[in-house]
Amino acid sequence: MTIHRPRVPGRRLLHSPGPSPVPDAVLQAMSQQPMDLADPRVDANIAACEAGIRTLVNAPKADVFFFISNGHGVWESVVENLAAPGQVVLIPGTGHFSEQWAIQTEALGRRVVRTPWNPGWPMDMAAIEQTLRDDKAHEIQAVFAVHTDTASSVTNDLMAVRRAIDAAGHPALLVADVVASLGCAPYDMEALGADVTLGASQKGLMCPPGIGILAVNERAMAAAEAHPAPRFYWDWTRRRADLNYRKFCGTPPHSLMQGLEAALDLILQEGLSNVHRRHAELAGAVQAAVEGWRTGGALDFFCQDPAVRSVSVTTITIPDSLPVDALRATARERFQVSIAGGLGPLTGKAFRIGHLGDQNAANILGAIAGVEAALVVHGVPVGEGGTRRALMHLAAL
Ligand SMILES: Cc1ncc(COP(=O)(O)O)c(C=O)c1O
Repeated sequence: MTIHRPRVPGRRLLHSPGPSPVPDAVLQAMSQQPMDLADPRVDANIAACEAGIRTLVNAPKADVFFFISNGHGVWESVVENLAAPGQVVLIPGTGHFSEQWAIQTEALGRRVVRTPWNPGWPMDMAAIEQTLRDDKAHEIQAVFAVHTDTASSVTNDLMAVRRAIDAAGHPALLVADVVASLGCAPYDMEALGADVTLGASQKGLMCPPGIGILAVNERAMAAAEAHPAPRFYWDWTRRRADLNYRKFCGTPPHSLMQGLEAALDLILQEGLSNVHRRHAELAGAVQAAVEGWRTGGALDFFCQDPAVRSVSVTTITIPDSLPVDALRATARERFQVSIAGGLGPLTGKAFRIGHLGDQNAANILGAIAGVEAALVVHGVPVGEGGTRRALMHLAAL
């Protein structure tokens, strides 16, 4: 049965903070016939993706693993490989995503120590250091740290986490979740001394959802090999293989991997520092718009410190009287701008504008104007010149 949907003229602008828009070159790369597993192009494609990820995270010697999964899949892989049931990890509070990772870790039978989260603010570095100092027996196996919490739109200072671990003299491994920042904000696994980096395909990497990504250093590999908890699909040692069938614990997802190779090419051709600068500039335009909107008295930034506002996503708080789903529907259906709602404690209390991945000034200005128009439709006071401030911001660069 065919379901007829009305045609959307032009393009709907996708400003959820993942999935993000997929460039044409990536779409084209994915529209190839599947290959037999012995075709050398399969190995070449996987090798190119591994090399691209090593470059992106600056970890020339790390093992890179790809999973047919989303971010939750690689979260699970990290848990399964770094802590046996009953063992402890520290998950610093960053909001919704640290809490979801903690819940998943506990569901898998591991124990979690959390540090408190102050809504609208980054991780509590002093609490991280103190928790590690208090762990005299070194029971904590690893610190699972979220770089950008996509719900709060706060980017955490992972170098400060590193310093807290070192200051406490604690041997815990450092695992960085860069799902929302990879390909958007600077990240350097070697300089950070992170042992594991985890990401996913559908945000800054400009691909459809479906590939979970891990970069693992020697120390974390050794820890994984040393602990005996049963695991199979998520097992890193099993994935450390020459055969592509083993690397994926089964058939590689060719089409997605070809898309990923094309996306990594686009990022590296543009140049990582240019990609980061573009994200910062476009985020600045969105933040300029919110500065304007907040003068109306109804909307505000959720992230309280301008210095830690994410370059990937901006979370904007709304009055209780504004039905966020209706606002999103108006933005999407009438103005062709897809935005996201609030998550966890911010459900019904915020909306989010994604500005990550394949974005340019025209998309961003269109998105800001479309959101402002939807706010006006819903009678929200938008203050002075949100959209104008955004374009002045870009014009002044
Ligand atoms: C920072 C962060 N970590 C993990 C996840 C989970 O990823 P997924 O939704 O692909 O399972 C997300 C999802 O948005 C995220 O933003």
